[in-house]
This record gives sequence, C-alpha cells and structure tokens, in this order.
Amino acid sequence: MPAHLVIVANRLPVDRVELEDGTPGWRRSPGGLVSAVEPVMRANDGTWIGWPGGTESDLAPFDDDGMHLVPMSMNAREIEEFYEGFSNATIWPIYHDLVAKPEFHREWWDAYVSVNHKFAARTAEIAAKGATVWVHDYQLQLVPQILRELRPDLRIGFYLHIPFPPAELFQQLPWRRQILEGLLGADLVGFQMPGAAANFVRLVRQRVGHKTHRDLIYLPDGRTVRAAAFPISIDAAGFEELAQSEAVGVRSKAIREALGNPAKIFLGIDRLDYTKGIYARLRAYSELLAAGEIDVEEAVFVQVAVPSRERVEQYKILRDEIDRLVGRINGDLGRIGRPAISYLHSSYPREEMAALYRAADIMVVTPYRDGMNLVAKEYVSCRFENDGALVLSEFAGAAAELRQAWLINPYDINGMKSALLEACRADPKELTRRMKAMRKTIIQHDVAAWAESFMTELSGERFAHGKTLRPAEQA
Ligand code: F6P
Repeated sequence: MPAHLVIVANRLPVDRVELEDGTPGWRRSPGGLVSAVEPVMRANDGTWIGWPGGTESDLAPFDDDGMHLVPMSMNAREIEEFYEGFSNATIWPIYHDLVAKPEFHREWWDAYVSVNHKFAARTAEIAAKGATVWVHDYQLQLVPQILRELRPDLRIGFYLHIPFPPAELFQQLPWRRQILEGLLGADLVGFQMPGAAANFVRLVRQRVGHKTHRDLIYLPDGRTVRAAAFPISIDAAGFEELAQSEAVGVRSKAIREALGNPAKIFLGIDRLDYTKGIYARLRAYSELLAAGEIDVEEAVFVQVAVPSRERVEQYKILRDEIDRLVGRINGDLGRIGRPAISYLHSSYPREEMAALYRAADIMVVTPYRDGMNLVAKEYVSCRFENDGALVLSEFAGAAAELRQAWLINPYDINGMKSALLEACRADPKELTRRMKAMRKTIIQHDVAAWAESFMTELSGERFAHGKTLRPAEQA
C-alpha cells in the first residue's frame, strides 16, 4: 500500500540477529535516532525504510510490533565502503570536530552515492502521491536531491542527528558541494543546534553560491529551503513512568545490592565511540580514587559501553584502550569484592537502563562533541524524586538546555575531577534545585514536541520565492 508518511533512515528500528536457539529474529537497534523517531512513526502510521544490519538480501517488507518496515539490503562491500567507510570513517569524524582523523577514499564516496540512490529509488516506489518523506542522518545526505528528481510531488524533510561542522572543517571534504546540493533537495533541513544550521547556510552561500537570508536559501528553480534547529528529545513521560514502575524499583535496588550497597554510584552509558570521552572520564575518576578524594569502599563507577561499529579500525583501537584502562584501574585501585569500575560491554533493554538511572547518584556524560546526547535527558526524566546529579560536557547539544548540570570541558581533566567531586558532595537541597529545573525543561520539550514542530514546519504552505536568480556557479 502506498505510504503517506515515509521515514528513511540508514537503520531500521530493529536489527536482524541470531537468537539463542540459532533461529533468526529481531532486536531493537542501538542509538538515539531510533528512540526518537519510533514514537513519531507509530503515532502517524508511517512506513520506515532502512537497513536491518547484516547481508541478508531477500527480506520482504514486514510489520513488527505495529510498525510497517521496508528492509533495504546491503552487500558486504556496501557495508564496508558505504557504512563503515564513508559514513563512519569519513563523515563521522569530520562532523565531530575531527576527534579522530577522517579518511578520504574515492571508492567509499562512489559507494555512498550508489547506496543513497538505492534508498531514494525504493522510497520513490512506495511513497503515495504528495506524501511526506522524512530522511534521517548523515548516511543519507544525497537522498533528498535524488528523490526530488524522481518524485517532485513529495514533501521532503531532512534531519541531521549529529553536529554539522563549521566551514573550516567541512571544506576538507572533497565532495563538499555534492553533499550540500544533496541536502538542498529537501524543503526543510533540520539540525540539533542553531549554530549547525548557521554553518550549513553559510556553506551553501559560500560553496554553492545560492542567495540566502537568515535561515532561508533561495534556489534558482524557485524553491525556498529552510535550515533551522529542532533540538531532539525523548519520551520523557514514558521514561518517568517506566522508572516509577515497581519492577524497575526492585531491579534498581538489586543493582545497588549487587554492587555492595556503596554510598555513591557513578554511571556512564554510551555507545562505545571515541566521541564520547569515556577514556578521559575514567581517568579523571581513577585520579580521584588514587588521591584518596573518593574511597573505593564507598563508591563505584558503573560504565556501560554499548558495542558499536566493531569492524571500524578506530572503534577496535578504542575498545582495546578502554579494556586496558579498566583493567589497570581495577588492578591498581580495586579491592576484593570492590572493583573501582564495574565495566559492561553490552547493550540493555530500556527497563534495565531505567533501573541503572534510578540506581545512579551521579550520571557522567562527557563527550568531546555530541549532536544532543539523549542519555543525559533520559537520566533526568528518570529522577522523579528530584535527586541525583548530572555531570555533562558543554560540547553535547543537551548542555544548551540542561544548564543546571555540572557542565565540564572534557579536555580539562582537572576541571572534570572538580566537577565529579562537587557533584558527589553536593547537599540534597542543591541537587533538588538543579534537578527540578532540568526536569521542567525536559518535560516541556519532549520528543513529541520535537516531532510536532518539525512536521508542522514541513507541512506549512510553500510559495515560490519569485526572485530572479542567476543559476549557481559551477565549482
Ligand atoms: O545518531 C547517530 C547515529 O549514527 C544514528 O544514525 C545511528 O542509528 C546510531 O547513531 C547508531 O549508530 P549505528 O547505526 O552506526 O550503529
């Protein structure tokens, strides 16, 4: 059946996995994108196009848990060159402030172009006349333009879930102009932060030569494209309800007990990604233990590292580094039955996450650069008793909203140590004051408000701008 709302993302909300009994099954995909977009999709009876992970090629469209899903297959070469290569070893580091060195390979770019064509072609096949198509994230930046050429009747929105870099970094990309033009196929291009939208508009003016005014871009074909910030959020009420449930309460107590009922539990939950600053945070914590500022008999740091992009070289290196660091810290500073760091390399369902959030006294979120960071918001929404402390990097998009967190610069280890200590020693009144304010923000700006503002803007009236413009110069 033709679809009136189509979500196009690199991943489906579920991954193809092998179950314990050896049969194939489905498991929820990792990452913030899925948690944010899934409720929108359910509320609007949409269809989701994406890759289910793996190389299976004969998967037909199917319904899972009330969602219409259309799997896109990828062969081993596409996974290597499009997903692991161009998406995650070229774009990802460039868009995250060059935290790692990006690699440029022309074959990877060719794979990126061809996979984007495949996604656009499949979308063109299933979208109803005049349908709304919402394309997501850095893996699919060419889809808006290709899709517009195939189906000019569609209303096309694009949302970038990660940062969009300043011109000084973006222009290193040999294919910078093609990417900008790809995005301009959309009617609305959404970003996490106003600075990212401004970076994009400036680049379009400088590199493509289109006329712009504030957040509007005037195209020679008469279309006006808007580039604006729509800071993403979470299902705050849903998380709170889950955290309040009896089962989560019981589980949270059990977690505390299993950890030896320490006075303070620090918690980090991240995809195992070099942008997240896991190494620096564990080092800062270990220095506090070594200096006797925190006692291993009284505190523990629980670090959950969700496996991610495990075949990409930089991620393999990071995993080894963290394994070594945790081993060293526990070897040097742990005691029998009292590890300094309780390290878990695994992903967990929402219920377990909520129990961890409830158990944790200090949540530590220290990315070098992060589009938003939904873990920080999830922690806040689970603290329904207005207690608990959040230590948050000022380089996460969430820092613009969660001003009452202990904000830190993850490059400044001493600053991070001071903040960890302050958060750990803060009196209950101070914690309540901060947490109350953050909870108010999160409840007002939840994921439903995010989706609604994007969709309302996307469905608004469009008029040709009527300006006489010269065609953009060829680069
Ligand atoms: O939000 C950024 C993002 O890369 C999403 O696009 C993605 O779904 C998620 O993180 C997890 O990454 P991956 O799909 O590479 O496992």
